Order: sequence, then structure tokens, then C-alpha cells
Amino acid sequence: MQDPHKPDLDDSLNVTQSHERLLRDAAAVAREKRVNDGGREPVSNWIFVTGGVVAIAAGLALGQAGGLFDYDATVAPGYVRRSLDSGEDSGPPPVDALKAYMAKGEKIYSKCVGCHGPDGKGGGAYPSLAGSEWAMGPTERFSMVILNGLTGPTSTGKEFGVMPAQGVGMSPTDLAAVMTYVRNSFGNEKGEVVTQEMAAHAIEISEKRAQVGTPVNKGELDSDHLQDLEGAALDPTTKVDPVSLAPVEE
Ligand code: HEC
Repeated sequence: MQDPHKPDLDDSLNVTQSHERLLRDAAAVAREKRVNDGGREPVSNWIFVTGGVVAIAAGLALGQAGGLFDYDATVAPGYVRRSLDSGEDSGPPPVDALKAYMAKGEKIYSKCVGCHGPDGKGGGAYPSLAGSEWAMGPTERFSMVILNGLTGPTSTGKEFGVMPAQGVGMSPTDLAAVMTYVRNSFGNEKGEVVTQEMAAHAIEISEKRAQVGTPVNKGELDSDHLQDLEGAALDPTTKVDPVSLAPVEE
């Protein structure tokens, strides 16, 4: 007997009907929601969009109420939260001027240390900076020696040869710092700051020397550079930025 599920291939009507049934079933399956491999229906994008909008709205509402989203309320007691736009945390903490100039000057002294030594006492072919009259005396004279080098007798009358110029690439900040450092190290105790403003004047004066490009000597120092550099004194306890050495408002 003919199996009812199988089309009777001899009966063309039966074949057509079962073909149509197959197409109908396939279309029905296609109409069903897509089901992914795990067997779960994919979540509609609308759920995400709606959920996101609700979450943002709730966050804004809570934030305005000063509740869960209050940033300042999240600081542990005893700690200070600096507000981001106050500029308070825009750099390292300010330091006393003399201390800051000394710290910077110690680094610049690396230019001098090979000859004048870590203790500033020189020795052998180099004069001592400890107690040196030309380091401790008028600032213009000292600055001219650094910027241009020196030839002929030193402050003690002794001759060592020629000190090469150290001014190339030296900014007013560098010069001010190294002068302050030498005048307050190795037992030298000036207790004063040679400021950036003073050092800037020194560089101007040096560039206008008649013998520009040659080392200074005692004759020129005595006749042209026996004064202190112009510029307002800076109280050694004024707070300055340790990097720029510029005074900081407190
Ligand atoms: C290459 C070696 C060398 C370097 C580097 C050097 N000096 Fe000198 N310095 C000398 C010599 C040599 C003399 C003595 C020159 C002379 O006899 O005329 C001297 C003399 C001096 C004097 C005069 C001292 C006095 O009492 O007469 C001062 C001040 C001085 N140097 C400071 C410095 C500083 C500050 C630096 C670094 C920025 C420096 N020197 C770098 C070799 C050097």
C-alpha cells in the first residue's frame, strides 16, 4: 500500500501538493524570530536603547540630588580633594627661594666640578672657590668670569692658566642658580639669592663687552665690572616654583 507521507510519484497532483506544503513550512520557519546558536532569542536593539536612556536619566537625577554620584562626597575623611580647575595641583609645591636656587645651582655646578672640585677647593691647576673674593664679591665681576672665562692673575694674585668661558647655552636661570650655589656652598655663606633678573643683566653686559669672545682679565674686571648686578633683591624665604624659580603667589 502507498505510504500516505510519501507522495505517490505517479500522481502528479500529489507531488505538487507536497511541494507546496514544503514551501509553506519553510516560509513559516523563516517568519519565526531568529534563534541563535545557544537557542536564545537575540535581544532587540530597542531594549538596549531604552535601557541606556533610562540609566542616563536616572544618573542625572541622582547626581543633581547630590546622592550617589556626588564626587566630593567620595573623599575619605582627613583627605583633601583638590578641585580640577583651581590650578592648585598644576606643579610641584613651592619652595623657599634660596633652597630652590641652591638645588638648581648644584645641578649647573656640574659644569664647574671637573676643575673646581666637588668641595669647590680646586687644587693643582685650579683655584679654590671656597672663600674666593671674586666669587663672593660684586656679582657683576663673578658673572663675567663665568660667562667669559678668565686669564691672568686670580683674586689671590696667583695664575693658573686660562679658564674657558662657561656661558654658552647658559640661561639667566642657570647663571643665577649656579652663582647663588657657589656663594652659599663650600663654607661660603652669603645668604642671598642672585636672581634671574640680575643674571639676565649679566648676559646683556657680557654681550656688549668690547673684547667679546675673549676671557676677562683682572684689568677689565677692575675697570668695568666692579659693581653688583642691577635688579631687585629677592627675600631668601620667598616661595618660588622649584623648576622655573619664579615667585609663586600663595
Ligand atoms: C676647564 C676648567 C674650568 C672650568 C670648567 C671652570 N673653571 Fe673656573 N677657573 C679655572 C681656572 C684655570 C681658573 C684660574 C684662571 C686664571 O688663572 O686666570 C678659574 C678661575 C675661576 C674663578 C676666579 C677665582 C678667583 O678667586 O680668582 C671663579 C670665580 C671661577 N673660576 C668660577 C667657575 C665656575 C662658577 C665655573 C662653572 C660654571 C667654572 N669656574 C668652571 C678653570 C675652570
